[in-house]
Formats: sequence, structure tokens, C-alpha cells
Amino acid sequence: MGEQELFAPLSLEVGAGEWTCLLGPSGVGKSTILRLIAGLEIGGSFSGTITAGDSGPVASRVTFMAQDDLLLPWLSVLQNVCLGGRLRGGKSDPARAMDLISEVGLAKQADQMPATLSGGERQRVALLRTIMEDRPVILLDEPFSALDAGTRAAMQELAAELFAGRTVLLVTHDPAEAARLANRLYILERSGLSTATPPESAPVRALNDPSTLVCQAHLLDILRQSAWRRPA
Ligand SMILES: Nc1ncnc2c1ncn2[C@@H]1O[C@H](COP(=O)(O)OP(=O)(O)OP(=O)(O)O)[C@@H](O)[C@H]1O
Ligand SMILES: [Mg+2]
Repeated sequence: MGEQELFAPLSLEVGAGEWTCLLGPSGVGKSTILRLIAGLEIGGSFSGTITAGDSGPVASRVTFMAQDDLLLPWLSVLQNVCLGGRLRGGKSDPARAMDLISEVGLAKQADQMPATLSGGERQRVALLRTIMEDRPVILLDEPFSALDAGTRAAMQELAAELFAGRTVLLVTHDPAEAARLANRLYILERSGLSTATPPESAPVRALNDPSTLVCQAHLLDILRQSAWRRPA
């Protein structure tokens, strides 16, 4: 099979304490970039550097919510949300976990196993586990993709509130989501990485804010240019 280059050389800068959104067609390498930053990409060859200001290695300061939720099937919702603390030697905060579980509407399911949850319920559990990690750098790979529009908007607002002051890199396919959350916008294509200008107002922006809608339409235009097309 041999190795194949995924994308042209690129430089991606993420603002400290800001939300950076990364969009781009399916298969272009967005998740691969997150895995590289998290120190999880062991296959393939990568040459380059990943730095976080002058504060040392990035991977140890990062929490990563993968595209596939990676809930442990033998643990309940509450136990999955508390998993990070347990793995690090028993310090977890079940009371805070329960508060968060209630806040995302899953109080009744706290003792259920992941297999008994819907896709969107599982995704909320995975997001809560990421929140409980309490790290300065947060990598989110399509964290709201399985949610209905109303729940998605509410979860975006919750995440913005709970991650305030953290450095967030969000991969999303949703131009509306990027337009309301981003301080910085990047679009990854095979030819390389480009930027787009987010609205001037501070996130989280209202979904129906005119500047959000203009930005959303602009992003959709760019994404349609690089999207897969049916053969003629
Ligand atoms: N473990 C792997 N071994 C070989 N190829 C892989 C592996 N994981 C991903 N790829 C390939 O690398 C490319 C980039 O994958 P990646 O998951 O980063 O894409 P993506 O931009 O996140 O796509 P999507 O939007 O569909 O999630 C794809 O062509 C994929 O098939
Ligand atoms: Mg992906």
C-alpha cells in the first residue's frame, strides 16, 4: 500500500484561551491533526513541531474528545464521566459529575450502561468526561455531531461556558457551529490550510445574529468548493 501524503505542509496556530475551529472535507486529515497534537498518532510519518508557547510539551496538558466516543462499555454513565480521575489514582468528584449529568438532561440515565443510550446521549457523556478532565487545552472532534439542533445549541453554550479561558481546538462539519463559536477559523483542504474571518463579536454568538449568518454562508461556500462531488 505505501504511504500517501495527506495534506500539504501547514502551520496551524491556536490562540491561548480562545476557540479555534477547523473545518474541511471528510477524509482530509482533521482528526489526524488532533491525534498528532494529543500525541496519539503512532502510525504514518510526521515531521514538524507542536509547541504550546514556552510551557513545555503539549500532549500532557491536553484532553481529547475523539470522534468515536470511546466510552467504556462496562462502566455506567456516572463512572464513565468520572473515569479520568479514577485512572489517575482514585481522585474523582462524583457530586460535580452528577451535577453535570443533570445539566445535560441525563440524570435518570446516570446508572445505565453506554449500550443502552442513544448516539446523542453517548456524545453528551463523552463531552462531560472531557469537561471533568479540567485541562488547559481541549481538543474536540465533532463533539456535537449526533445531537438534535436544539440540544446541539444548548451543548455549545454549555461548553463555551465551562471551557471559558481554556484553549479549545474544535473540529466540526457544521458552518453554523463554527460561525457562532470561533475566535479563529481554519479550513483544511488537500492543498493546504486556509483561514476565514469570524464575526467580530465575542462568542458565543446567537445563531440568528446577522454576522453569524453571513459567516456561516461564507464557510458553506468554501466547503462546497472542496467537497466530494458525484461523478458526472
Ligand atoms: N489508522 C489509519 N490507517 C491508515 N489510514 C488512516 C488511518 N486513519 C485515518 N486514515 C486515513 O487518513 C485520512 C484522514 O483521516 P482523518 O480521520 O484524519 O480525516 P478527517 O478529516 O477527520 O475526516 P472526517 O471528517 O470524515 O472525520 C483518511 O483518508 C483516512 O482514510
Ligand atoms: Mg474526523
